[in-house]
Amino acid sequence: MNFYIKKQLFIKEVLEEVEKKEQYGKSEIGKGKNIVIDYSSPNIAKPFHIGHLRSTVIGGALYNIYQYLGYHTIGINHLGDYGTQFGKLIEGYKLWGEEYDIEKDPIHDLTEIYIRINQACKEEESVLNQCRDNFKKLEEGDPYCIQIWERFKELSLKEFQKVYDQLGSHFDSWNGEAFYSDKMEEIMQILEKSGKLVESEGAKIIDLEEQGINTPCIIQKSNDSTTYATRDLAAILYRARTYDFDKALYVTSYEQVLHFKQVFEVAKLLGLDEKYTKGLQHIPFGMVLLPTGKMSTREGNIIKLEDLLEEAKARAQKMIEEKNPNLEGKEEIAKKVGIGAIIFNDLANSRIKDEIFDWDQILNFQGETGPYIQYTYVRTKSVIEKIGYLPKIQEVKEEKLMDEYSLNIIKLIYVFEDTLIQVTQKEEPSILARYLMDLAKAFSIFYQENKIITEEKELQDARVYLTSIVGKVLKIGTQLLGIEMPDKM
Ligand code: ARG
Repeated sequence: MNFYIKKQLFIKEVLEEVEKKEQYGKSEIGKGKNIVIDYSSPNIAKPFHIGHLRSTVIGGALYNIYQYLGYHTIGINHLGDYGTQFGKLIEGYKLWGEEYDIEKDPIHDLTEIYIRINQACKEEESVLNQCRDNFKKLEEGDPYCIQIWERFKELSLKEFQKVYDQLGSHFDSWNGEAFYSDKMEEIMQILEKSGKLVESEGAKIIDLEEQGINTPCIIQKSNDSTTYATRDLAAILYRARTYDFDKALYVTSYEQVLHFKQVFEVAKLLGLDEKYTKGLQHIPFGMVLLPTGKMSTREGNIIKLEDLLEEAKARAQKMIEEKNPNLEGKEEIAKKVGIGAIIFNDLANSRIKDEIFDWDQILNFQGETGPYIQYTYVRTKSVIEKIGYLPKIQEVKEEKLMDEYSLNIIKLIYVFEDTLIQVTQKEEPSILARYLMDLAKAFSIFYQENKIITEEKELQDARVYLTSIVGKVLKIGTQLLGIEMPDKM
């Protein structure tokens, strides 16, 4: 079927729609639906690494976009604050805590203590037993162990918060793994009853061979302590009851694909309504690679996130210093550009792809980067500033926007809401990142090919108006991704 759209009418409608809504693209299509997003979820007493940054950025973007479409969103930071490693840390702290001034750089010191105690465990069986015992005590509520553990948690959270503040991250719940410690009993009972829980070398496991998963899910270790998987099962039960979720998304690196496959499979034994088990979804993403190869904790070439964000700001500041040294509020702008560049880089490609972390590319104003989009936005602002007025929509003559370059922009603006919906259908914020890049590019071409400031008043008004709309959509879109726009650059 061939059909033609009357261009003028189309243009008019798009312009009116954007004009009408302060929050263009916002909708109520998600009304009444609850979306749980489990993201960021770093581990206490360990560095907040670049993988957690990706989770924070991708999860945060999904959170914002779902919310914008009217869904009720619940962001959960499922902190890794439990597990046998805490038994070790407590032991290490008991032995050497006094050697450290732990308040100063807690994560650094705790990591060091952790490395030391691991070494000691290897050398001496009795130390290892002591560590296991500590975790057991922690699970049983021993006041001394709890006190130390709480201190680790408090100090770590203070560090993590520095990163969240920079990124503008928000969570509705900070219930980490430990929160589920008293909810494990019920899981054990349900699973026992299901008849699927079997003993294997002293541990309790669920075999998933029939479901096509070759590795069984360990529910309880041979020393009776629970596992990461059990705690996730308890979390599913709790979240279904508390949030009545339609979808529960888990944003982690693809290294956890097997874990979630197992957990989601075992969750079917919990007696939950199908609505819930069907709503469980792992949202995996690729690794962050340095141009020289993989970043890994073991090899020590791990980058501390706080330093990374600082460096991003410093590099952006240096660029501003070179290009526009008289700019007012340089520091604030450098922050927006530097952090925005990192966020955009995390979202620019489909999430499952490994990402190359290369400073020169990330901050390149001419590349497909956050700064490029910010720069385009600033350009829309400065056009309007130069002209000194913003025409009213009633003054805009649609026939002045029928050239190829203007139409390109209008078509893109028309599909904005649809783009947001696609993001939620594929759980893929890169669709919005891509869209914003296309819009920014379309504007640059429009700007190159069409004189905005002209003798002809009607033409000028129409073009200025379109420019302002591009600015509006770029700003809304980047905000949804978690990127802030500078007004000047
Ligand atoms: N703390 C985990 C890690 O750093 C991520 C937790 C993800 N969420 C979950 N419910 N398992 O690998």
